[in-house]
Amino acid sequence: MAEVLQKMHPELYKKDIEEARQGEAYAPFERDPNSFDKKFYIESYGCQMNFSDSEIVASILHNEGFGATRNFEEADLVLLNTCSIREKAEQTVRNRLQAFRKVKESNPGMLIGVLGCMAERLKAKFLEEEKLVDIVVGPDAYRSLPGLVEEAEGGQKSVNVLLSREETYADISPVRLDSNGVTAFVSIMRGCNNMCSFCVVPFTRGRERSRDAESIVNECRVLYEQGFREVTLLGQNVDSYLHEPLNGESVNFAQLMEKVALISPLLRIRFSTSHPKDITDDVLHTMAKYNNICNYIHLPVQSGNTRILQLMNRTYTREWYLAKVKRIREIIPDCGLSTDVITGFCTETEEEHQDTMSIMELSRFDMAYMFSYSERPGTLAARRYEDDIAEDVKKRRLTEIINLQNSHSRESYTADIGKTFEVLIEGDSKRSDKDWYGRNSQNKVVVFPKNEKVLQKGDYVNVRINTATSATLMGEMV
Ligand code: SAH
Ligand code: SF4
Ligand code: F3S
Repeated sequence: MAEVLQKMHPELYKKDIEEARQGEAYAPFERDPNSFDKKFYIESYGCQMNFSDSEIVASILHNEGFGATRNFEEADLVLLNTCSIREKAEQTVRNRLQAFRKVKESNPGMLIGVLGCMAERLKAKFLEEEKLVDIVVGPDAYRSLPGLVEEAEGGQKSVNVLLSREETYADISPVRLDSNGVTAFVSIMRGCNNMCSFCVVPFTRGRERSRDAESIVNECRVLYEQGFREVTLLGQNVDSYLHEPLNGESVNFAQLMEKVALISPLLRIRFSTSHPKDITDDVLHTMAKYNNICNYIHLPVQSGNTRILQLMNRTYTREWYLAKVKRIREIIPDCGLSTDVITGFCTETEEEHQDTMSIMELSRFDMAYMFSYSERPGTLAARRYEDDIAEDVKKRRLTEIINLQNSHSRESYTADIGKTFEVLIEGDSKRSDKDWYGRNSQNKVVVFPKNEKVLQKGDYVNVRINTATSATLMGEMV
């Protein structure tokens, strides 16, 4: 069946989807996936938070008798968890919907639901624009999904895009989708209060709220007991995590990390994302204190020019950012560092673009996600400033930044040749099942040959690096 569909609808079989399907355990249910009455299929786009939300959705549907399937052609309910961060992200979703249209024509009973940030941004308009969509649900309304599905089964299109000030899904145990059984994401907060002028997230995910600390620690402990060896604590701005229970002591991000670190020295902790204005010495010292808190920080800079940073409403200056990088390197000398950059923001001059290049020179990121500015309707920047940098200029500046980062990445990775790292094995390397794939504390991918030693994923090994590209270290066990 899959092969036939692949021929009929090759657009449904993009490489990324095939890769996603190669995950080993799609949904490690306690119950046999075939014993469910109904099946759902979910595809996620955007940030890790969205992928993590899909696991909450899977749990909610699981309780309603829906089992997960990797083949949408056999699904009763097809869900797209969408992203609005750039125009291109929304275009990808629309293309996917186009592709589903054909399948729905031959199977009219199949329900199609749109979840996530694009659902929140477009609300009921989605139903007018995309006639085949039956259900629209925003990120804070997933608990209402079963009711909405029931309505849709009765032939009524249904929408719930209410944002909440409290919802954290704290009590829901996520069903791990496409899990390698070693690494997992754990949401610690939702929403964002920062109002960076370019960003749609505060509009699609609402006000910031922190999840109950105890439920986070419990979830991490259960993961550890199930054999997981790495958790990534997720939030749009983890450094402003603050849980203040009605009775009991408040917990900040440094304290939360410490609680998770104490579960077991064998459980690695990562987190994402930090905001340069909020990351504290307290957090850095906690990282330095615990060997199992990974030495890696993703610290989005966005621009290296103070005027542009002000227009972006990032609330720090070039100097502040550079001082943070210096502090990180003082407290955690071998810390891995990565960033996000936007080129061609409103009114950005050539000199200001050069400032971004120079802050990259000074900060020496190991890795970066780089984008050209994409105006998002309703954001502060869309309302206040003209999107006045020509597309070709944005693209040229982006290419310059990518080239510069590539050379920095190559330098950073080659500098590791000869060093020995502790690596957590996550599975076979993508290229060959004769090699292991894992990452070091700094979040660099390490590939090395399996030898006679009996190892399995979830084990820690020391690997000496022999060669490197700009994105992978290759070595051998020592
Ligand atoms: N909360 C995280 C980022 C979330 S969005 C943080 O504050 O760092 C991820 C990245 O997408 C951002 O860091 C930014 O670099 C990029 N981005 C967000 N909005 C964008 C837009 N309108 N155009 C281009 N890139 C954008
Ligand atoms: Fe968007 Fe800024 Fe919030 Fe990040 S911190 S999600 S970039 S508003
Ligand atoms: Fe996209 Fe929403 Fe995440 S807009 S980046 S999925 S918070």
